[in-house]
Amino acid sequence: MQFTVAIDGPAAAGKGTIGRALAARFGFAHLDTGLLYRAVGAKGGDPVLAAQSLNADDLARGDLRSMAAGEAASRVAAIAQVRAALVDYQRGFARRMGGAVLDGRDIGTVICPQAEVKLYVTASADVRAHRRWMELGGDASQILAEVIARDARDMGRSDAPLRAADDAITLDTSALTIETATARAVAAVEAKLPRRLG
Ligand code: CDP
Repeated sequence: MQFTVAIDGPAAAGKGTIGRALAARFGFAHLDTGLLYRAVGAKGGDPVLAAQSLNADDLARGDLRSMAAGEAASRVAAIAQVRAALVDYQRGFARRMGGAVLDGRDIGTVICPQAEVKLYVTASADVRAHRRWMELGGDASQILAEVIARDARDMGRSDAPLRAADDAITLDTSALTIETATARAVAAVEAKLPRRLG
């Protein structure tokens, strides 16, 4: 069975948490596409060459979750040739047998416009910055400023800007527990799963 769940949304909205939970629940494979852009940014040198030669070792680096790596990712992600180099891998992953969940910024709009389920996971900037601060520590007001700046760059770029697909279900997690947000995402997938015979 091919079945794709596309999850998009701004920084630290809870896409990864929901994506991992859906993958575990339904036995789907999960791809955090932000990691691809983080690895390109962290590799240094020419970002287009870095994207074209990305390998498993690049994705296994220990420093990809930092705020600095997120910032570098968002800069290289605005380059059309970088995005183009990563399209085939993501589309192949999305249509693998057994089902797939991909989270990122342009999954429902550009990578998998045919995805069976599209979720747009968001939350207020304050809530998202607080979550990132709980995860990474550091200066809270600086984290908020970086989250806001990164959102503006991701939404304002000309190639594949962050936006909800017209047919996406929006999940605002500002006031939701992880359990409630996940339960809503599970219900959205269950509503679209092909019914088993017998
Ligand atoms: O974890 P967080 O939501 O903070 O970020 P991420 O999903 O790891 O993505 C890091 C950066 O990569 C984003 O700010 C985007 O600029 C870029 N990105 C993208 O352009 N398209 C994607 N499908 C995924 C990430």
